[in-house]
Amino acid sequence: MPSETGAPRITLVAAVADNGVIGNAGDIPWRIPADFAHFKALTLGHVLVMGRATYDSIGRALPGRTTIVLTRDPAWSADGVLVAPGLEEALRLAESLPGDVFVAGGAAVYAAALEHAHAQVLTEVHLSPVGDTHYPQFDRSEWAEKRRDAHLEAEVPHEFVWWERV
Ligand SMILES: NC(=O)c1ccc[n+]([C@@H]2O[C@H](COP(=O)([O-])OP(=O)(O)OC[C@H]3O[C@@H](n4cnc5c(N)ncnc54)[C@H](OP(=O)(O)O)[C@@H]3O)[C@@H](O)[C@H]2O)c1
Repeated sequence: MPSETGAPRITLVAAVADNGVIGNAGDIPWRIPADFAHFKALTLGHVLVMGRATYDSIGRALPGRTTIVLTRDPAWSADGVLVAPGLEEALRLAESLPGDVFVAGGAAVYAAALEHAHAQVLTEVHLSPVGDTHYPQFDRSEWAEKRRDAHLEAEVPHEFVWWERV
């Protein structure tokens, strides 16, 4: 669904542990197959914006989506992805592309994109792992929880939560 201004709708999508951790040593410190499926269902046919380290951790362009990788290295390139030197440039580029924008991390990219975001779809992962990368704090009074799907019986208990900017 496009935003009311005609610009693409921007959604942050992340899996966040109870202690705010999203990553450790270049990887995600849990494996939740249902979360991969959720991410795929949410983002197929849309535009992904991600930092270069997140792209490296995935290692390839995800099929069925247009990926824009943020890097300050003008020499960086990879097969099947678009490159932007900053978030503003990435969002401008996304305006010319079909689909909504899903910001897929990492930490600094989420923090910079938060002010532009219409929605956040967060997987609350009920673990508190060691980590070196965290999701930004956000003011919950500016956001309304619209939907929560709990999977507390899963091997790694988790909940999918949809937030909309108030
Ligand atoms: N749990 C989750 O949902 C989730 C999601 C995503 C990532 N992760 C995890 O988070 C970690 C990676 O995240 P990270 O925060 O370390 O790195 P990142 O944000 O993915 O990548 C950082 C790099 O992106 C580029 N970059 C970031 N902001 C930029 C900007 N405003 N303008 C231009 N370039 C920009 C720079 O690349 P250059 O150095 O090339 O200039 C920077 O070094 C990994 O552990 C990953 O597994 C977890």
